[in-house]
Amino acid sequence: MSKQDVSNLRINADRLWDSLMELATIGGTEKGGVCRIALTDLDRQGRDLFVRWCKEAGCEIRVDQVGNIFARRPGRDNSKPPIMTGSHLDTQPTGGKFDGCYGVMAGLEVIRALNDHGYETEAPLEVSVWTNEEGCRFAPAMTASGVFGGVFTLDYALSRTDPDGVTFGEALKQIGYDGPEAVGGRPVGAFFEAHIEQGPILEREDRTIGVVTAAQGQRWYEIQWTGMESHAGTTPMEGRRDALLGAALLIAEARRIGARPNGRSTVGVIESKPQSRNTIPGRVFMTLDFRHPDDAELARMDGEMRAAAARIASEHGLEVKIEQIWYFPPTPFDAKCVAAVRAAAEKAGLPHMDIVSGAGHDACYVAKVAPTGMIFVPCKDGISHNEVEDARKDDVAAGCQILLQAMVERANA
Ligand code: GLV
Ligand code: MN
Ligand code: MN
Repeated sequence: MSKQDVSNLRINADRLWDSLMELATIGGTEKGGVCRIALTDLDRQGRDLFVRWCKEAGCEIRVDQVGNIFARRPGRDNSKPPIMTGSHLDTQPTGGKFDGCYGVMAGLEVIRALNDHGYETEAPLEVSVWTNEEGCRFAPAMTASGVFGGVFTLDYALSRTDPDGVTFGEALKQIGYDGPEAVGGRPVGAFFEAHIEQGPILEREDRTIGVVTAAQGQRWYEIQWTGMESHAGTTPMEGRRDALLGAALLIAEARRIGARPNGRSTVGVIESKPQSRNTIPGRVFMTLDFRHPDDAELARMDGEMRAAAARIASEHGLEVKIEQIWYFPPTPFDAKCVAAVRAAAEKAGLPHMDIVSGAGHDACYVAKVAPTGMIFVPCKDGISHNEVEDARKDDVAAGCQILLQAMVERANA
C-alpha cells in the first residue's frame, strides 16, 4: 500500500474494545471498575498480558530501569527515531477500565491494524507503558515518564516509598519489571497519547475528539499538623490544641481557594493520631492537590493556602508544616502535533474541539524531550477515577483511528 492511502487504513473497533474489556478483568472490581495499583502483582499481570499481545503482533519488547515498557514495530528506515504512543496500566484504588488502559490498547490496536493491512511505515513505531502514572501508591504521579523526560533522576524515582515504607525500586524488582535499559536519553520522533477526557466538556459539547492543546499545572502538598493529645472528657473546649480541627479548617479554606475560575482543590488523604475516640487528636497528616491552567494563579493559590494555614495554626495553638512535594507547571503541547491531531479529525469528518487537560498525563513529561500531542475522547457523564467510568465504543474507536492517522503521517514525514 502506498503512503497516499493512509486514510484507508482502518482500525478494528471490536478488537480494541475486546482487548480493553479483557485487560479490565485483571483487578476487576464488583462494581465494574478496576483496582490495579502500580507495581503490585495485578500490575504485573496486566503488563504480562500487554507484552504477550505485543509479541504476538511481532513487536520487540524493551523494559527500562523504571519499568517503562516499549513495544517496537520496525519501520522501513530504522535509523529514524520512533513515533511513539502509550499511556499507563496502573489504576486508582477505585479506578475504571479506560483511564490509561485506553491509550495503551489504542497503541496496540494501531500496530495490529497496520499488520492487518501489511503496511510499513518509514520510521519505526513504539507503544509505551509508563510506570506509576497515577501516583496513588507512590507520589508523585507520572514518576517514570518524569525520569524519561529528565524531570526526575533515576534515584529519586526508585526511592519513592508507599505508605508501608516499600520503595518503588523494591516493588519494581518484586514484579520482575526492573529492566536493563537506560531511561530515556534517546531520540523520539513524536509522541501521541490517546486518553478519555475524564471531564464533562466533550460530552456536553457533543464532540467526538478533543484536540488537547495543554495540560493544567499542579502542586501537591503533604501537611503535618501538631497539637496536643489530651483527655476528651476533662479538657475544656477552651485552649484545646486539636490537630484535626486545624486540618478540618484548612480543608474548608482549601475548598474556598479552589473555588475560583478554573481552579481545583482536593484533600484526598487524612490520617489523625492516635485514633482514639476519647483522646483529642494530637497529630494529623493530610494531602492537598491544587490545580490551575495559569501558573501565576496556581502560585496565588499556594500563597493563600499558606497564609490560611498559618492563621489557623496560631488561632488554635497548633504547629503546621507544609511541604510541597510536587510542582508540575502548566504544559503546552507541540503546535505541530496539536495541528496533526486537529487535521486528522477534520479529515475523518469527526466533530472536534480544542481542550485543556485537567488531569496530568505521561505525555506532559514526554513533552520535555519530544514533540507531543494528545487525543481525548468523551467519557460517560465526565466521570473518571471511579469504578463507573465508561466510554462509548464508537468514540473509543474514533480516537484510535485519529491516533493511527497522526502516527502514520508523522512516521512517513
Ligand atoms: C492523574 O490521574 C491525575 O491525577 O491527573
Ligand atoms: Mn490516566
Ligand atoms: Mn488517572
